[in-house]
Amino acid sequence: MPDHMSDTIPFSAAPHVRLGSSSGQPITRRDGVLKVTGAATYAADNHPAGMLHAVIAVSTIARGRVASLDVAAAKAHPGVVEVITPANRPPLALDPDVKHGMFGFRFDALQNDRVRYAKQPIAVVVAQTLEAATEGARLLSPTYEIEPARIGFDGGEHFDPPMVSIGAPPNFDRGDLAAGLSAAAHLIDTHYETPAQYHNAMEPHAIVAEWDSDRLTIDTPNQAIVMMRGAFAEFFDVPAENVHLRSPFLGGGFGSKAIMAGPHILCILAARMLRRPVKLVLPRDQMYGPVGHRGATQQHLRLGLDAEGRLTALEHHALATTSSFDDFIEAAANASHNLYASPAISTRHRAVRVDIGTPGPMRAPGEASGSAALECALDEAAAACGIDPLEMRLRNYADIDPATGRPYSAKALRACYAQGAERFGWAGRPLAPRQMRCDAGHLIGWGMGSALFPAPMFQAEARATLRADGTALVETAGADMGQGAWTVLAQIAADGLGLDIEKIEFRSGSSDLPDGGVAGGSGHTATAGSALHNAGTDAIAKLAEIAANDPASPLFGTGNAGVEARNGRLYHRSDRSRSESYGDILARAGLATIEGNGKGGRDPAAAEARAMFSHGAVFAEVKVDPDLGQVRVTRLVGAFAAGRIINPRLARSQLYGGMIWGLSFALHEEAIHDRRSGRIINADLAGYHIPVHADIPEMEALLIDEDDPYVNGLGIKGVGEIGITGTVGAIANAIWHATGVRVRRFPIRIEDLIG
Ligand code: MOS
Repeated sequence: MPDHMSDTIPFSAAPHVRLGSSSGQPITRRDGVLKVTGAATYAADNHPAGMLHAVIAVSTIARGRVASLDVAAAKAHPGVVEVITPANRPPLALDPDVKHGMFGFRFDALQNDRVRYAKQPIAVVVAQTLEAATEGARLLSPTYEIEPARIGFDGGEHFDPPMVSIGAPPNFDRGDLAAGLSAAAHLIDTHYETPAQYHNAMEPHAIVAEWDSDRLTIDTPNQAIVMMRGAFAEFFDVPAENVHLRSPFLGGGFGSKAIMAGPHILCILAARMLRRPVKLVLPRDQMYGPVGHRGATQQHLRLGLDAEGRLTALEHHALATTSSFDDFIEAAANASHNLYASPAISTRHRAVRVDIGTPGPMRAPGEASGSAALECALDEAAAACGIDPLEMRLRNYADIDPATGRPYSAKALRACYAQGAERFGWAGRPLAPRQMRCDAGHLIGWGMGSALFPAPMFQAEARATLRADGTALVETAGADMGQGAWTVLAQIAADGLGLDIEKIEFRSGSSDLPDGGVAGGSGHTATAGSALHNAGTDAIAKLAEIAANDPASPLFGTGNAGVEARNGRLYHRSDRSRSESYGDILARAGLATIEGNGKGGRDPAAAEARAMFSHGAVFAEVKVDPDLGQVRVTRLVGAFAAGRIINPRLARSQLYGGMIWGLSFALHEEAIHDRRSGRIINADLAGYHIPVHADIPEMEALLIDEDDPYVNGLGIKGVGEIGITGTVGAIANAIWHATGVRVRRFPIRIEDLIG
């Protein structure tokens, strides 16, 4: 049996895969019409017959225990069906206080009466209507035994986290830091602080759960559909195949929908207990507690530089907040590993336990906060050395990965710097601050930052079914959280099959499909895309095998290597007059369909040999009112190199989203804790500021050509997270350039710039 007919599923595509005509096209979202007409079904749009509504009662204290709940009052309210508290909560097959799996977070599912953070679930009220459940939850009138809340970096116990991110070591050393620091002509010793931020997806977490004996159907937005199905199955002790998780659309995820949280389990538990479908939708304020956030950081950097501004040592220590009961932290110091050449690099992570919900991955986890500090510190260094910030970055350009000594799989960062600077008009920027004013007398400043994000791959599988009518069905349980997976993955699949995208029916967002892996880490297009492409080429190989062995085919006698798939036909590679349509080949073979399967994942040898990152450069202009301290970002130009771009329109849209988030990080976002109560006092979209259209300037994202022959066969990296990483520092540095004030705490506020 030839290779391509074996029953093993093809893994990586061969390097330098030539893609067809769909890839590279800026086509609009295939789900766009469904979304703008309201036809797209989100989790909360599901109303199974007999459905009840659940509302979670959450704690108003941050630490202590629930002393009493007026369950009788809640139950007496018309329409209330059940009140679930730790006293009557049915058992779970696994303990929520034990970590499970790669993304296993400890969570709160009424396992006891302890309160570990404000807005922690303390009871669930299930009722005939949302209104009755809401009122029932209010009637519980909890009383508490209150213990003092531990909030802030000095509020709780410090500890060394066993790991950061997904299994990465918390500390890193390369070279002789002490020697590098003592050899330095200039020493920058600086601190930066970043606040807690909350994901705030437009669509709050929503769960609709329905049991049919021991079979469970759950509608919930999720970024890791098949993995999450497995987790739910374990907690309820049913086989994974009994659980059907549907997540066709997500109204944003940003990492918070990649993990399982208490509300999911409580809703499924209520449905099983009451033998009725149950819907639970978190109100906005409950998004600030049980479903993750970006933890706050304090970062200390020491940069040693020689007289020409070259790093002799780079030290980056991060202290990050986490909950009292779990370990995830914002791995900020890792941002210093892979970007700038330095003979010595040393990073440390420490954590502090406070009475907040456990943080989790939030768009550009680690890098967002860490690069903010690193890019500002490098700007401080440029000023100290009297060197232009762009020149500073070029002098410290890393031609090999500083952390591992490995070559980069591809790194078009020089082109990003050059083209971004050209587009922005960076040349001629005065070195000193406070040199530029507009006609209205406002200070103008220009700043820049480098952008970097890893290009990981996870594991994914896909299926492609060619049909005799010349169309194809392609399937993978991937997640479109707004990034455009439905479109981009279909483009890749179309090219794998040699079909026009209009012939592609794309199915996704359901756990009964091949495992599409995790939509996270900016790795979904690379991973699920590789699986889909491999599934397509597998189907084509099988088709070619049939044609080559069929004396009635014009392709008879052609080996698989000798054909090319294009526009629904197989062509002989060296004799284009010999070709046949897929439909004709299938019809003569008496087949209605032919199926191919494929996997996506990193080639372990390539991963060992190369450092794989997306890169970019962001340039910002700000205008600051010298009397009022008001900051307006007037221009943002980003230039990004992220391997092959499958859809420039959607890639740019992702980069815009990241850059807007960077602006938000620099100037707007902050969850403010009341240190006395431990509560977040701005747990809503009125008090938790995010940019609106009026805050967003003229913005450009340039896509820089980059051919990456190592990252995967398709040459795809990712664009979901990198836009944040350069932008925060660029804006902060522009504010320094405008005002001469170096603000070391984010978000930068008016108060920081006046007086
Ligand atoms: Mo992302 S924070 O990997 O969804």
